[in-house]
Amino acid sequence: MKFYFHFLVYFCEMKFLWIDGEKVEINDRDKTLVDTIRSAKKSITAPCYRTLRQFGTCNSCLVEINGEKKLACGNPPVCEEEIVLNRADLIEERKQKVKVFKKHKEMMEKYL
Ligand code: FES
Repeated sequence: MKFYFHFLVYFCEMKFLWIDGEKVEINDRDKTLVDTIRSAKKSITAPCYRTLRQFGTCNSCLVEINGEKKLACGNPPVCEEEIVLNRADLIEERKQKVKVFKKHKEMMEKYL
C-alpha cells in the first residue's frame, strides 16, 4: 500500500494539486492528504490521525476529492486532483463527526 501511495506522487510530472481552487505543492514526505493540507498551512480536523487512534476512527477529516466525499487521512495526495476543503456543508459535517467522536472517546475512556 505504501508503495502505491508513493507511486501516485512520484510518477507524475507536476507535484501539485488544488485545494479550494488554490494550487498547492505536494511535498515528498506527505503520505496522506492530511499531511498535504497541513503543510499548505491549511486547517483540517483530524483528531484520530496519528493521535487518539486507540479510540477508533473519527471520520472527521472529510473532504471532497474530484467530486466525491472521502477521508483525507485515508487517501494519498494525487497530482492535479481537486480537493474541496472549506465548503459550508463539509465544515458542518466535520463538526458533527467531531462531536460524535468526542462522545465516543469519553465513553471509551471510562472503560480504559
Ligand atoms: S483523521 Fe480520523 S478518520 Fe481521518
